[in-house]
Amino acid sequence: MPVHQFDGIIVGAGGAGLMAALQASGSARIAVLSKLYPTRSHTGTAQGGIGAALGNLEEDRWEWHMFDTVKGGDYLVDQDAAEIMCREAVETVYELEHMGLPFSRTPEGKIAQRPFGGHTKEFGKAPVKRSCYAADRTGHMILQTLYQQCIRQGVTFFDEYHVVDLLVNQGAACGVVALQIATGELHTFHAKAVLFATGGYGRIYKITSNALTLTGDGMGVAFRRGIPLEDMEFFQFHPTGIYKMGILITEAARGEGGILRNKSGERFMERYTPTLKDLAPRDMVSRAIYKEVREGRGIDGKDYVHLDLTHLDPKVIHEKLPDITDFVETYLGIDPTKRPIPIQPTAHYAMGGIPTNVQGEVVADEKNTVLAGLYAAGECACVSVHGANRLGTNSLVDIIVFGRRGGKALGEFVKRAPFVPLPEKPEAATAARIGRLQELLEAFELENLLDLALATVTGALAREESRGAHYREDFPKRDDAKWLRHSLGFLREGRVELRYKPVAITRFQPQERKY
Ligand code: FUM
Repeated sequence: MPVHQFDGIIVGAGGAGLMAALQASGSARIAVLSKLYPTRSHTGTAQGGIGAALGNLEEDRWEWHMFDTVKGGDYLVDQDAAEIMCREAVETVYELEHMGLPFSRTPEGKIAQRPFGGHTKEFGKAPVKRSCYAADRTGHMILQTLYQQCIRQGVTFFDEYHVVDLLVNQGAACGVVALQIATGELHTFHAKAVLFATGGYGRIYKITSNALTLTGDGMGVAFRRGIPLEDMEFFQFHPTGIYKMGILITEAARGEGGILRNKSGERFMERYTPTLKDLAPRDMVSRAIYKEVREGRGIDGKDYVHLDLTHLDPKVIHEKLPDITDFVETYLGIDPTKRPIPIQPTAHYAMGGIPTNVQGEVVADEKNTVLAGLYAAGECACVSVHGANRLGTNSLVDIIVFGRRGGKALGEFVKRAPFVPLPEKPEAATAARIGRLQELLEAFELENLLDLALATVTGALAREESRGAHYREDFPKRDDAKWLRHSLGFLREGRVELRYKPVAITRFQPQERKY
């Protein structure tokens, strides 16, 4: 079996993985393993923008961004991490601009910004233009820009390698085992440090905006190696997926003035969140849609409502929302300048994941004990900047800020750390699993999805309250006295054992969440 040796291995070539690789590769030999060709990673589908308080169109401050993030996350956010994210978002967006990312521009040539759900000025007074965008192709542009920079910097890529095991020896991560998809051959990668940036696991749901490839690979592998998963009961539904298909229609459509309407043509969000209306956080808008449908106000009595863009200037739609126009025309045969779009909430984003500290180091228990040599960033990680509900645009901020921090920390670590020897027969456990399977790749993916679904459901059943994206009709209220805490699920002999740890609260005390 081929054995490769690098200082650092990054698993996943989305925005977090590429940013980490770029940072770490300055002084170390870094390899990126991706089960896809890198520029097909799911970051490429992120549409509406990356939030940063640049204040290009109106006054904005990172403290307001932080407040919105904490409140949007229903106070389960670790505030030390949110502060770092919102502060560093500003310099990181400029860094991307200087790498050549083609942002949309204001008439004076500054990076253009638009409103997005839950982003406000002056601690909740009114919506603010904070989302920096490249039409509705922001993620695509981030991915292309970072990939070009990685190639320029000499990062080594192993494309279409599916990671199936994490190697841990002498209490430290020391590599991974991967399946080369084209040949079915197992490869061992020996490294001083490993960073997982493998994205989410939306494919546990029937209607999802997530690509077929989002099967929670890094999370599943880590979970089976005894690493807990944090806050798995919080899974976000984006309000506007194309009806029955789940394909994302960006929130930017509402940021540009789009309106949600029920069967009577009523702008129903005015009743639920009078200040922010259609731009309230996603958990609230998604729940409002479900309520409209349940109370018989879905279109034609069915389980969807309309996203109406017909009152907008067609020029705005074509210039600022070209991709979604194309999707709607292709998949529904609808011209969105003339007819409203049928939409329903779609499973979109995992707030939970592999627990990390703000350096991206994986922490393996409720005491935040670091597992040496293991890092995680992006959607597969939980540094807990999103708490119980992520705000739109904050996933791109998260992958860039914490991808950068994780990559830097890994780069420093491999300078001083020796190689930990590989365990004996590192591939033996994987080879034994392969012997039992058919349809190999799908079986590995399904195993990940089943384990993560178990973690999600176990956490959700235990959490007897409603908070952010986690809503229970039998416990409809938030219960700070009992549940203002993070859950950690450990996989133990096929069952999930839950433990808990406190939320870091620094600036903003929990309040009722009104918009
Ligand atoms: O609506 C969107 O464009 C999605 C953005 C996000 O999930 O952050």
